[in-house]
Amino acid sequence: MYSKLQLYYMSGTGNSFRAAEWMADTTQSQGLHLSVQAMDAIRPAQVQSEAGTLTGLFLPTHAFTAPWGMIRFVLQWPRVKTAEAFVLVTRGGLEFGRFHMPGMEGTAGYLMALLLRWKGYRIRGVMGLDMPSNWLTVHPSLSPQSVESMESRAQPKAEGYILDLLAGKSRWHGWICLLLGLLLAPASLGYLLYGRFFLAKMFFANEQCNRCGLCAQNCPFGAIRMRGSPYWTYSCESCMRCMAYCPKEAIEAGHSWAIVLYYLASIPVGVYMARWLGGGARVVQYGYYLLSILLAYGIFWRLIRIRWINRLFTWTTLTHVFRRYHEPSTPLGAWTRRPDS
Ligand SMILES: Cc1cc2nc3c(=O)[nH]c(=O)nc-3n(C[C@H](O)[C@H](O)[C@H](O)COP(=O)(O)O)c2cc1C
Ligand code: SF4
Ligand code: SF4
Repeated sequence: MYSKLQLYYMSGTGNSFRAAEWMADTTQSQGLHLSVQAMDAIRPAQVQSEAGTLTGLFLPTHAFTAPWGMIRFVLQWPRVKTAEAFVLVTRGGLEFGRFHMPGMEGTAGYLMALLLRWKGYRIRGVMGLDMPSNWLTVHPSLSPQSVESMESRAQPKAEGYILDLLAGKSRWHGWICLLLGLLLAPASLGYLLYGRFFLAKMFFANEQCNRCGLCAQNCPFGAIRMRGSPYWTYSCESCMRCMAYCPKEAIEAGHSWAIVLYYLASIPVGVYMARWLGGGARVVQYGYYLLSILLAYGIFWRLIRIRWINRLFTWTTLTHVFRRYHEPSTPLGAWTRRPDS
């Protein structure tokens, strides 16, 4: 049915990349031309597809929807006439002892499917796949045993899914998640408009940082500038790669800093100005929000060069004690493009 399988992925900590690799590996015996490429390794305009090609899109869930970086990537794809595609969204599962809590991809899969449809692709299916949650800003990594057991459940599901598609079946999963995602759409929108910028400016490097620059070199969105020490810009998508792979475990998301940031960003305009700004309040509030966080971070970033201030914020963030996570079989170098076969 197909002569080529081309898989594109966005992946912060390796989960979505691993799912793509499982699928590619399991189809290797079928004589297909295979390619697995990172979204940041190609230009969107280079994405091509013709009859006989099945295109797969792999991405993580961020706030019950697709990350903005992936939405933007697909928006820039050229239109096609006769191509087919599917979407696989990885989501963050959690495990507490014997209790397993599945992740929730919300609107992520169907939103990407809709965008692909608009680009001219015939959609063959959408799937959500539980992988260990990588949201290190809010919780520590799962234990290695939980990671292993979750992956051992995920791998056969991913493999079975692609084999079904190649056998000509269509597979649409995640309707309940889609419904919940639609109910939670205001939260997803809030994340896209506000949350991701806030999270980007929570990052800082603690005293262990040796300024090696690995975090900046490997950020899929080019969001870290090395100004002596790393400086996080608004391009950050909170994919967690820098935090997961820093060899010194020096990257923190400052919880105490977030409290300061929250008050700086919300109180003045919210309380004093909104009353007399009327309808324009939202726009002014939003502008103030982005600007105040940017300025505050600039000051904070200079201040944490002073040792005791850096220590203060390091010791008062939970990430300082959180275990880091990345997909266990995925070292940093795995992001390089898998050669076409
Ligand atoms: C900022 C952020 C938001 C997240 N939001 C969700 C979510 O809404 N639902 C969910 O199930 N998992 C969520 N996760 C977990 C990831 O989607 C999940 O661990 C995914 O497999 C990570 O894949 P990657 O390593 O390919 O980036 C979130 C993770 C991050 C970093
Ligand atoms: S990878 Fe870690 S040690 Fe290296 S510059 Fe980034 S934060 Fe510092
Ligand atoms: S700065 Fe870190 S968390 Fe943000 S997009 Fe880059 S690698 Fe991901």
